[in-house]
Amino acid sequence: MFDVVGLGCACVDFLGVVPYMPGLDDEIQMLAASRQGGGEVATALVALARLGSTASYVGQIGDDPSGDLIATEFEQYGVDTSHLLVERGATSQTSIVLVDDESGKRTILGVPFTASEIAPDQIRPGFVEKARYLLLDGTARQAALEAARRARSAGVPVVLDADVVALDSEIEALLDLTDILIPSKSFSQRFTGTENVEKALETFRTFGASIILITLGEEGCVCHADGDTFHTPIFEVDVVDTTGAGDVFHGAFVRGLLQDWELPQTVEFAAAVAAIKCAKLGGRAGIPTAEETASFLAGRETQFDYSQLTAHG
Ligand SMILES: Nc1ncnc2c1ncn2[C@@H]1O[C@H](COP(=O)(O)OP(=O)(O)O)[C@@H](O)[C@H]1O
Ligand SMILES: [Mg+2]
Repeated sequence: MFDVVGLGCACVDFLGVVPYMPGLDDEIQMLAASRQGGGEVATALVALARLGSTASYVGQIGDDPSGDLIATEFEQYGVDTSHLLVERGATSQTSIVLVDDESGKRTILGVPFTASEIAPDQIRPGFVEKARYLLLDGTARQAALEAARRARSAGVPVVLDADVVALDSEIEALLDLTDILIPSKSFSQRFTGTENVEKALETFRTFGASIILITLGEEGCVCHADGDTFHTPIFEVDVVDTTGAGDVFHGAFVRGLLQDWELPQTVEFAAAVAAIKCAKLGGRAGIPTAEETASFLAGRETQFDYSQLTAHG
């Protein structure tokens, strides 16, 4: 009964803005710092909730302070936590994120953690099947495959954020179950072995997703659907931090799909929401509401009508 059910990574980011990337034996003063929830699927769900859709997170965290923050932020942003499992005595996934003051680009350091992934048989029967979209990021792989199979049998489209996910033997099975494939540039290059976007699209097309969209950071994104390929540039903003740009893009993209817009408008909307996010430190603090996105777009060049944006989608 949710617009979107997401199964994948939820973590906490400790973010710090640095005047330059420190080297060995350096000791430097950070210019700003923040602690926020992160993770591809989790942040995409937060974006969906901010933009007015209903979203629920399926996954497992630990009962440590990071786990508490993950759960509290979901509640604050209005992401449903009825399928959030908490493992006793386990630590949750946490990252240290160094943001370069000059470029807004980030370097991510994963902290070791012990919480186990949600298992396929822990997914409640009917939970995925009732969603309008299923969002995955390829983590909790066995559960992701199970959720994708259930979604497929129920006619629920599967959206995959393919980014830092491991390239093991099961990744292809996951791509085979994906309807809307949105890889990052780095995944695209790792998986297809080419920097040529056209060639990468050709490889991805053999897996049967009806929409394939490769995000290219500052270079925008390239989308392929119905035999047509088009490029969408970024919206220029004063970038503070690009952490979570892709996560937020995915959430906003699904929000556009829920709105039943044409694909070019859906992509432009996602690019706008992701750009607005980049103006604040952290993956979540800068995520705009639908109204804020509409007023941002009102001041930009666009051929689309966003006046319906405030309606629930
Ligand atoms: N510096 C930026 N300024 C404005 N928009 C950006 C910027 N970086 C990324 N974006 C937007 O966010 C989308 C996803 O970013 P990308 O860096 O490709 O993903 P990820 O964060 O997963 O690596 C891009 O396609 C673009 O629309
Ligand atoms: Mg990403």
